[in-house]
Parts: sequence; C-alpha cells; structure tokens
Amino acid sequence: MLVEKNVPLQPFNTFHIVAKAHALVRIASEADLHAVLADPALAGLPKFVLGGGSNLVLTGDVKPLVLKVEIPGKRLLQDNARHLIVEAGAGENWHDFVAWTLAQGYPGLENMAMIPGTVGASPVQNVGAYGVELQDRFDSLDAMDLQTGEIFTLNAAQCAFGYRDSVFKHASSAEGHQALGLKDRAMILRVRFALPKLWKPVLGYADIEKKMAAYGCSKPSPQQLFDWICEIRRAKLPDPAVIGNAGSFFKNPTVSAEQCADIIARDPKVVHYLLADGSVKLAAGWLIDSCGWRGKSVGQAGVYEKQALVLVNRGAGSDGQGATGGEVMTLARAIQTSVYERFGLMLEPEPVVL
Ligand code: EPU
Repeated sequence: MLVEKNVPLQPFNTFHIVAKAHALVRIASEADLHAVLADPALAGLPKFVLGGGSNLVLTGDVKPLVLKVEIPGKRLLQDNARHLIVEAGAGENWHDFVAWTLAQGYPGLENMAMIPGTVGASPVQNVGAYGVELQDRFDSLDAMDLQTGEIFTLNAAQCAFGYRDSVFKHASSAEGHQALGLKDRAMILRVRFALPKLWKPVLGYADIEKKMAAYGCSKPSPQQLFDWICEIRRAKLPDPAVIGNAGSFFKNPTVSAEQCADIIARDPKVVHYLLADGSVKLAAGWLIDSCGWRGKSVGQAGVYEKQALVLVNRGAGSDGQGATGGEVMTLARAIQTSVYERFGLMLEPEPVVL
C-alpha cells in the first residue's frame, strides 16, 4: 500500500479547484482498504472518500486521509424473470458504465447518461436526470465500514434515498448502520442495478419532446434516447473537462401550494411542477436567473451563462490557479441571500463542501 503525500487534488475534482491532500491512498480492491484499516498509523485517522470529485467544493487542503476509490469491474450478475441485475465497481466512471450497459443490450440507465462522477458516488446523492433517478434502477450495494472493516449490503430502503439524498449524506450518531447516517463512516465498494426487462422509454421532459419532434421519432430506441440526452446535456451544461463545475449547485426547492401561490403572485412566470403530495417543486435555476445572476462572477467563480443553476470555475485550464473554494462559496452565499430576499426561500447547496 502506497501512502502518497501532498497530492494535488486539482485533477481529482471537476471544479478544478487547486488544493492538496495531506495524504492519499488509492483503493483498487477490498484488500487495499483492509490494509489501510490494519495499519496502526492510518486506522485511527479521519478519512474522506473521494469518488469522481464531481460533487465537491474544496475550500482548502484536505487534512483527513483521502481514500481515492478506484475499484474496477462491470458484469451481468443475474438474468431473472423481470430484471437484469448488473454490477459495477465503485471506481468505474458513471457515463462509461451507462454506455457499456447499452452496448451489452441492457437498457434502463440511458436518461442518466453524461452525469459526471463514479458509480460509487451515484447512490450517495441518488443522481438523477430527465425523469429517472438512481433509486428507480437500484438493486443493492456493498460497502465497507471504515471503523470495523466489516462488509455489509444495503437494499434501497436501507439507503434511505431522497431527492439528491441518501443515508451516505447524513452523519451517524450511534452504533449500527441501519436508519442511521453513514457519512464518512463507510466506503461503497460495488453497486448493483436492476434493469427492467420490459424496457419503456422515459419521455415527457420538454427537452426530450423537442428532440422527438426534431427527429420525427416518437418511439426512440435506448441508444437513440442516450444520444439525445448527451446532445441536450452538451447544449446546456458545461463540460467539466473544459470549464470546471459540479453540475447543479443547488437543489430544486419544494414549497407548499400556499407558498407557491404567493410566489406566483409576485412573479407569474416562476417555473414550477406540481408533485403528487400536493407540494410544488420550483426550478432553482429560474429563481437564480430571475435575480439576475446568470453570467455574473465573484473573482473567478461564476454563474454559467446557459444554466444559472450551475456555478463554474472561470480560471485558466489545468495549470492555472482558477477559482478558490472560498470564491465559489462567497458566490453561492450571495445567490442564496438574493433568492431569499426576493422569494423567502433558502436554496440548499447540492455539493459536499470540504
Ligand atoms: N431555467 C431558467 N434559467 C436558468 C436555468 C433554468 O429559466 O438559468 C428554467 C428552465 O428554462 C426550465 C427550468 O428552469 O424551465 C428547469 O431547468 P432544467 O430543465 O435545466 O433542469 P433543472 O431543474 O435546472 C435538474 C437537475 C439536473 C438534471 C436536469 C434534467 C437538480 C438540482 N438538477 O436541473 O441535474 O440534469 O434537471 O433532469 O435537480 C445535477 O444534479 O447536477 C444535475 C445537472
């Protein structure tokens, strides 16, 4: 096992923020992780699990021991009456995994094409796009307890998925895994997906409907849908390889029907979606946009010109210094304040701030 010291983290976070890990160990197998936990110098240290770094704001050098997840593997595990169960190692790149499933003839993940990050990070924030969330295709996962080295399996209920939320985003306060937070407590090793054999395209999003009209195609194949999603995302979201970013910076807030009526009275154009329980989801991108933030900057941190929900690093390429995590957070707080003052809503950031 190699403990790397003072490791630049700029290549390992999609915001391309300059920061260092005091110490970093690459985890390519369970044995690597067991070796860390068996090492008296490392076992007791606070640890930070780093996946694709696509949902992360670094506000300084990272003092906890960084465990960089590089566990590989993709395979069909089971072919049962209703589902194909496909398993992937936590270190696999998410988009490459989605493309691989389609190439194998296992559709179901195509709406989540091009989400940056790794397979292991995907359940942490229950990634989702264009009407499909990870929890809709999730079977189970294996993880290792970072205190005891014990490997355990969680099903969907035990992961407590919510909108961009899971048990892995909440701190634990007591012993045991279930119904308690696993933040900084466990490393996800493998994730299994249940892909329905009776595949139906998930359509219904305005952007997808526009593609159906443009291509004159109302029954897209899985690959066709995958290609459309890639086109839609390329057109409105910045490619992290070119412009540093962490995807949507804030969650779309949910409000009561009464609160929504009040906001509509103040601004009838507010983009909103009725939810099954009577509450209303508001488009955070629209709220930020209507406060005039699109294209604005604080230092080298900016609001993306084509999607106000995405904050970007306007700094030079991989060798430039670019935005600091502090600048990103100053911008984020200024946005929160102005949306709060105008609409009485406090936007909740999506990324982990370290
Ligand atoms: N809008 C504006 N101005 C803007 C941005 C958006 O008016 O600057 C309006 C759009 O016109 C649209 C509405 O807001 O009517 C919603 O925008 P969009 O369709 O781009 O989706 P979103 O709600 O901003 C969410 C997810 C994305 C996901 C898309 C598609 C969250 C926080 N974000 O974005 O996920 O790709 O829907 O399903 O739920 C991510 O989480 O990192 C992410 C990219």
